Amino acid sequence: MSPARRRDPAARAAELRRVIEHHNHRYYVLDDPEIGDDAYDALLDELRALEGEHPELRTPDSPTQRVGGRPLEKFEHVHHLQPMLSLGNARGEEELRAWVERMRNHLAREGISEAEFDYVCEPKIDGLAISLVYRDGRLERGATRGDGEIGEDVTQNLRTIRAIPLTLDDAPKLVEVRGEVYMPLAGFTELNERRAAAGERTFMNPRNAAAGAIRQLDPAIAADRPLSVWCYGVGATEGISFQRHWEALEWLREHRLPVNPGVRLAGNVDEVMAICLDWQERRDALDYEIDGVVVKVNDHELQRRLGVVGREPRAAVAWKFPPTTAVTKLKQVAWNVGRTGHLVPFAALEPVVVGGVTVKLATLHNEEDLARKDVRDGDDVIVLRAGDVIPQVISPAPDAVGRRGRSKPPAPPERCPSCGTPTIKPEGSVWTICPNRAGCPGQQWQQLKHFVSKGAMDIEGLGEERVSQLMNEGLIRNAADIYELDAERLMALDGFAEISARNLVAAIEASKDVPFFRVLYALGIESVGYVNARNLAQRFRSIDALMAASPEEVAQTPGIGPVVADIVAEALRDEAMVELVGRLRAAGLNFEQEGPPPGEGPLAGRTFVLTGSLPTLTREEATQRILSAGGRVTSSVSRNTDYVVAGDSPGSKLEKAERLGIEVVDEAGLLALLA
Ligand code: IVH
Repeated sequence: MSPARRRDPAARAAELRRVIEHHNHRYYVLDDPEIGDDAYDALLDELRALEGEHPELRTPDSPTQRVGGRPLEKFEHVHHLQPMLSLGNARGEEELRAWVERMRNHLAREGISEAEFDYVCEPKIDGLAISLVYRDGRLERGATRGDGEIGEDVTQNLRTIRAIPLTLDDAPKLVEVRGEVYMPLAGFTELNERRAAAGERTFMNPRNAAAGAIRQLDPAIAADRPLSVWCYGVGATEGISFQRHWEALEWLREHRLPVNPGVRLAGNVDEVMAICLDWQERRDALDYEIDGVVVKVNDHELQRRLGVVGREPRAAVAWKFPPTTAVTKLKQVAWNVGRTGHLVPFAALEPVVVGGVTVKLATLHNEEDLARKDVRDGDDVIVLRAGDVIPQVISPAPDAVGRRGRSKPPAPPERCPSCGTPTIKPEGSVWTICPNRAGCPGQQWQQLKHFVSKGAMDIEGLGEERVSQLMNEGLIRNAADIYELDAERLMALDGFAEISARNLVAAIEASKDVPFFRVLYALGIESVGYVNARNLAQRFRSIDALMAASPEEVAQTPGIGPVVADIVAEALRDEAMVELVGRLRAAGLNFEQEGPPPGEGPLAGRTFVLTGSLPTLTREEATQRILSAGGRVTSSVSRNTDYVVAGDSPGSKLEKAERLGIEVVDEAGLLALLA
């Protein structure tokens, strides 16, 4: 960067905004980040500091302003510039062909006899429709669909979604972008885990969770929910037009708006059908729920001529997946004990084929869910196999309800189904739990399964069945036992040969390189999912610091509230946990975040303020160097500041430092402190 650039805060702020939005796009849209979290945070910190110094640079489209709005009293109503329509359905191939026939007939009546169609096929995202208005390249407004004509202004909430660009480059005067907000499945699971642990109601499905987040009056809540968006269309425009839908999608993608990578062109109905079936096969592997494929006539002129019936354009249709529900008999509601002792109800079913798969077991989530669904042993029930593969019982089949007098609603067992310990229901919790944390084989099995799983220690060759086998052989009871397995012992077991035994031992050895935050996640502490583990590791940097922290200190971690903080602090003081950590540490697992923890390093406990431009280091580099030496960097000078690092054109901060008698150093002075 040229020194002139560095001296011009407006130019630097503009550059930072662009660079940060570029990295947002790499991370949130392309799923292909170019830089690590720390480097990203440093950029954001620099921009925040710059805006703190020069408030006039804090533009509404700055990435620092994604969350910032105050809670609203209510949502304002907004008129869509073009109505948001809905879609007719087609089930199966015949209905799809009938749709094409209807279009042909309609055009024939209009005097167009030989219409040739090509089509765009898009996944039908199961979320919430939204509209984004960009005027002169700035996100001006975001709204829900509402009744199609009038929606609610949810701009503040939509701005918190990092996948949505706040500005567009080379933008036309106006463009109204249509898309679907959704919650990725991984984020949904984690959110529900967090909520359940905090004693809050869980969401039924990702769609409800996404819709609930967008309808929050407080944007800080929406910001905390993992949301994303796929854009699939354009409404009103000024200064740009498209002849084909495909061109519109390409334009959106070029302008960094997230367009699903799986959208396809098809030349005829056979190709459309093949694409639909392909999506049907792949839907379970996606990280979001889809309930069909939207098929759209590509040519805009044809679309216009085809017109709209009611609220449905003739030129598009939703091809729906075959139902993934079935009716079968609920033999019995039974209970499993989960990783953290929660008793989870599930349904033992008469085997039934749902969406091509035979289902014998289905989840009932939790007691509250069970009570709401009001299913009882012996009922005929509706079973759903949703996108996330674990089948669930939805409700009693309509004619099961008549026989209600005879059977009782199922209740959680008084003793743990795995170890027989009397169960308890902590006050205010929706869960009944088995308190035998350390000794319950059911909990041990779940813990071990979690410990070796992909996001955790990722030990290849140690799947569910192997874990059961090793437990049954008495070789492992907890995670630390895994590191004491040796190849000789394993070779003696059923199903192991010399090579597989040695491979497993090698995989166990390799897991010792897993970084601290994943080890923390692997410990399976309630509410400490992947994201929380990463934030805790980042903040505390070592298991010792985390174990020593009070609940209040833990609650200072981003994303962690007081309820979860209590759970974490308590779990880490548990005797069995302390022992487990001790053994895992002795085995050589990582219990420290890379880099010097705060409290160590040459600048530990020292607070710096940077001002002016330094001769060789950028502000970002200087910040990084100070942070990795254990120091802190803040944006304004106060009595708590230890050093002000001043470069060229330092401005008022230098004056203030001198007034307060704070030590001022130049770059050479900083480098000396770092040495
Ligand atoms: S096009 C006429 N494309 O499905 C245009 N909609 O049933 C209507 N949806 O309200 C929208 N994915 O919420 C379109 N690729 C996609 C879609 C999609 C999901 C939703 C959207 C719409 C509903 C219509």
